[in-house]
Amino acid sequence: MPMYGREEIENLTKVIESGTFCDKAGGFMDQFRGDFAAALGAKHAITGATAMLLMQAIPGAIGAGAGDEIICDPVVQFHGIACLHTNVIPVWADVRPDNFLMDPDSVEERITPRTKAIWVTHLAGFAAEVDRLRDIADRHGIYLLEDCAHALFAEYKGRPLGRWGHIGTFSFNMGKQLPTGEGGMAITDDDYLAAELNKRIIFGESPEVLSSNYRMTEFQAAVGVAQLKKVPGYLEQYGEGRRLLDGVVNECEWLDARYQLPDSVVAPYFWSCLFHGERKNIDYGVFKAALRHSGARFGTGFLQVPAYMYAIFRNPNAYGNTGCPYNCHLYSGDVDWQPGHCPVAEDVIPRIVLTSNMVPVEQAAEAAKALRTAIELTEAGEVEPLAYSDVEQRLLQVVKDEGPLEPTEVIRILDDRGWEHFHEHGMRTNMENLRDRYPLKLSHAGPRKFAYHDLSA
Ligand SMILES: Cc1ncc(COP(=O)(O)O)c(C=O)c1O
Repeated sequence: MPMYGREEIENLTKVIESGTFCDKAGGFMDQFRGDFAAALGAKHAITGATAMLLMQAIPGAIGAGAGDEIICDPVVQFHGIACLHTNVIPVWADVRPDNFLMDPDSVEERITPRTKAIWVTHLAGFAAEVDRLRDIADRHGIYLLEDCAHALFAEYKGRPLGRWGHIGTFSFNMGKQLPTGEGGMAITDDDYLAAELNKRIIFGESPEVLSSNYRMTEFQAAVGVAQLKKVPGYLEQYGEGRRLLDGVVNECEWLDARYQLPDSVVAPYFWSCLFHGERKNIDYGVFKAALRHSGARFGTGFLQVPAYMYAIFRNPNAYGNTGCPYNCHLYSGDVDWQPGHCPVAEDVIPRIVLTSNMVPVEQAAEAAKALRTAIELTEAGEVEPLAYSDVEQRLLQVVKDEGPLEPTEVIRILDDRGWEHFHEHGMRTNMENLRDRYPLKLSHAGPRKFAYHDLSA
């Protein structure tokens, strides 16, 4: 829903006219960093090409590497991937059943002498219990890192998220609250950490440490400066949409609104609630089918399973088929992530029912209406449970056989095989719908392609 207009165009024109498109003294990058730091009250703001790249630089910046562990929440994969990139072992802590955010009690249980940090994700703009997590980190002399990719301007106890930990990161990809195409920002109040991070993300001529180039361009910063001012207005509108959807759930005995910590401010991102059909003998497959019939786009199950069940964490392949970093001789722990490792996450993730919250209020009102319809259809038992259709089975097979594909590529392959012809929109919808399925599913692989997963394998 973000709006782009005169200010973005004027800023981009200035960049073009300047003839210098990279970070320069007095350019938009300086302004973006300054404005962002000021908006959140942080001492340092550090721009990067993406949030993921900034995250990859963090383990090195805090002195973590081979043989070390960082405790992550298993509802997303980003921090875990950043760990693997730096030979750090992600250790998965469980989540709370009511908001699926990191559970500090589980974190406490998973701390070992090898733990260097806790890496918490404020999923979909809700605050995790960062006061307790910070206390745990301080007691154990380790770092608290916050992934705020969904949580710009969210708060807990009057403090912005991203400033409870030692470093907080934000994403500006096109799906985020502040979109600049691609881009990320790290904030910290710590001079030493800011310097360590900067060393790793800009290569320079003679690097002091192993580093790379993760630089943002002036184009992104020019858009970022303009968008930053608009985000509070967007969030207000998204908040209205959130209230409409929560209103529907509050009247349903088998859907629970997501729990928000008292004294916290949510930055709406995707809206979600939890399915508890067992209370009323409601079949989840029927509700999923009813959501499809309702006309709005709802997803179920989010990742479907905790991150540690994905192949990349079961069989990391960054260093050939060596099994690194799990079997590194410097690592004295044991990686054994069998089902049951985070029982709450395993139970709650499939129950997540979600839809985008970053839409105009009118669209959220439509979604709320559709959700009410889906609830009524389900309770009336008027739909058959969701199953893989023939078309869906073919799509899954094609992506499995050919690797990550764009919808247009799948259409071409189906045409070549003489199967049903699809238009791009229809194919994209089919592929999007397969993101919510279990055990065979598709996931986004970059902005255009979809990848295949068999989660039972
Ligand atoms: C929770 C979370 N963390 C990190 C990232 C990575 O952000 P980027 O796309 O800027 O690398 C994302 C992106 O979707 C995200 O959702």
